[in-house]
Amino acid sequence: MILFGATGDLAKRKLLPGLFHLAAAGMMPARYRIIGSGLPHDAPGTDDFRTHVRAAVDNYGRTGHGAGSWDPFAVNLDFAPATPTEPQALRDAVAKAEQDLGGPVQRLIYLAVPPDAFVATVRMLGVTGLGTGAKLVIEKPFGHDLDSAKALNRELRAVFDEDRIYRIDHFLGKEAVQNILAFRFGNGLFESVWNADHIDHVQIEVPERLTIEGRADFYEQTGAFRDMVVTHLFHLLGFLAMEAPARLDAASLHEQAETVFQALNPVDPARTVLGQYDGYTAEPGVAPDSTVETFAALTVEIDNPRWAGVPFHLRTGKGMTQSRHTITLTFTKAPQDLFGPADCTSGRDAPNELIFELSDPGSISISFRTKAPGADTRLDDASLNFHYADSFTAAHGLLGYERLLHDAMTGDHTLFTQAGGIERLWEISAPLLAHPPRPLPYRQGSWGPAETDRLIAPASWHLPEPR
Ligand code: BG6
Repeated sequence: MILFGATGDLAKRKLLPGLFHLAAAGMMPARYRIIGSGLPHDAPGTDDFRTHVRAAVDNYGRTGHGAGSWDPFAVNLDFAPATPTEPQALRDAVAKAEQDLGGPVQRLIYLAVPPDAFVATVRMLGVTGLGTGAKLVIEKPFGHDLDSAKALNRELRAVFDEDRIYRIDHFLGKEAVQNILAFRFGNGLFESVWNADHIDHVQIEVPERLTIEGRADFYEQTGAFRDMVVTHLFHLLGFLAMEAPARLDAASLHEQAETVFQALNPVDPARTVLGQYDGYTAEPGVAPDSTVETFAALTVEIDNPRWAGVPFHLRTGKGMTQSRHTITLTFTKAPQDLFGPADCTSGRDAPNELIFELSDPGSISISFRTKAPGADTRLDDASLNFHYADSFTAAHGLLGYERLLHDAMTGDHTLFTQAGGIERLWEISAPLLAHPPRPLPYRQGSWGPAETDRLIAPASWHLPEPR
């Protein structure tokens, strides 16, 4: 594996600890080498790189160094600097690693670099032959609009066959996200009500407490809509809204996700609220007059028989009061409602909701009303709850990046996103990108601009849950 961006933030937090976990769990190939790469000015030697990886595992990993698992992993780590114009040290390191491994070697190249370095790196991989026969895992954002996404896809395909390109959305690697498919298509009870006849509206909420955490270079080029909505939230929507695939294989799933994206109406700036947390423009590296949004909330609709007229409300932002990944499906009320708000202890005539909490370890709950014991008829709010942690331990599952690294190694495309789907998402985003509303200020530690409530009225956002 050649890991570009090996001393960067993503490698430190997710990729290196994830690779170590796979090794400790016996899920790496029998023989492998991981060659970190990066720009020469901060290039560590082999020993320093191993120390760097060990610190990343200690600080961000979930797997301890017990049972002698560190040394057998560490011997496989090396570092070689490279730039698009000076690739020789990397070529030498790869040649040496492949000689050591012997036999036919499968190369896996991981691009965890800033988006403005994608094209030059991919061209270098083409010119040097390092990309020949290799698989490529590429981090988002895949372009910043339709034209740039198409141009990027052309550059990638000039060096790599499409079936060797793995475009990562790490949300799709999360166990609880994959469980949306199991829940929908493995349970007749729910699939039969999964449509506009029974579902009033859907919410996808991904608030984050963290701010941009020193990522100004990246964030000033992207903003919340590109960083989170196009990249993650729309793909969650794809899993929620797709028709049943003929089979659970990559081609069938991709086809169904893309069909949903084709039916998504263009994003309407009038049904979008952007925000910027107070203090954003004072962050190091941020322009003092930056209008980049750190918050986005929007309503989209899917123009097909299953979903016509059902609003999908999406909300995400940095510097908010909670970190959550919550999907809420709100059901239509019973046709004949015998019970009104006055009959409910809460005073609310609450509709049934199905709630997926996707943050690890994840849960699924269904809210309903039940008769409170007693001589009169009063309804209390109640819920059925499934918590992953009650049934499974963390050791059963892989974290998002672990699962996807493993899938790329074994050649399974199922949980990766596809060029056609991504291009369509940029296409529907065009009206908003052309005419973005001005970001409204919001207080750090809040739920974003109050204006957001307008999007969902007369309903209200699921978060925060009532105490
Ligand atoms: C990344 C975004 O893709 O996802 C980050 O670039 C964001 O800005 C992160 O914080 C959220 O991922 P998770 O899994 O921590 O919710």
